[in-house]
Amino acid sequence: MSVKPTVLKLGGSVVTDKEKTLTPNLQAIERLANEISRANVSHLVLVHGGGSFGHPVAEQYGLAEGYKDSSQIIGFSKTRQAMTKLNKLIVDFLISHNIPAVEVQPSSCVVTKAGRIQTMEDRPLRKMLEMGFVPVLYGDVVLDSEAGFAILSGDQLVSSLAINLDARRIVVGVDVNGLYTGDPKTDSSARLIQHITLEELKNLEPLIEGSKVTDVTGGMLGKMFELKPAVEHGIQTIIVNATELNRVYKALKGEKVVGTIIER
Ligand code: IPE
Repeated sequence: MSVKPTVLKLGGSVVTDKEKTLTPNLQAIERLANEISRANVSHLVLVHGGGSFGHPVAEQYGLAEGYKDSSQIIGFSKTRQAMTKLNKLIVDFLISHNIPAVEVQPSSCVVTKAGRIQTMEDRPLRKMLEMGFVPVLYGDVVLDSEAGFAILSGDQLVSSLAINLDARRIVVGVDVNGLYTGDPKTDSSARLIQHITLEELKNLEPLIEGSKVTDVTGGMLGKMFELKPAVEHGIQTIIVNATELNRVYKALKGEKVVGTIIER
């Protein structure tokens, strides 16, 4: 691809109310659609999380553990249903801001093996980017060649897409200012890390807390684990607070912004 794309992840804690099942955060989605539109990035791929849409249903049916019995089958459908609802909503907001967003269902183009992406049919997605569309993917429940099915986190998807598309930058929008030396929600002495290398990250891992609310894909630690391969690949990754005005906008523009830059 001639222009290197930017991959933006919007966490489920940003686009939904994580405490209330199946509740979108419409205000945040509207504001972020506006920021994305203003940033006007050429070649953008958007990936959003599941938040209170995907996680509670997936957990109810134990989907993260893979196929155990037939009672989970309807749970797979319900998780897909919840995720497509959220995805449609986000795509609608983007289109209303004149962003040529096109939904791409991960479960229709990805097969995992033991939870890791094994194959992904990405030709339509590449063509979409080339033509100026903004593909919108999400963390999803997908078919797994060993486990029957698996939860594919938006973060694993982001990292894999960024590597395969040779992305310029990954912007990860979450509900905290970035990576901290502790859990900023419970520990007032926790300090924001503005810049970190993979080597430094290794020493910090024992300090990074997993997210407390229902999250079948592992909170901040899981996020770091997933993003590492992309960083190793040389893709600059920045974590910003997407609940704060203009942080995503600035990160997309490559401007200086409060957040954590992770580099090789
Ligand atoms: C999870 O996606 C999707 C499902 C549970 C089906 P993510 O793991 O990317 O979602 P968030 O960002 O943590 O909510």
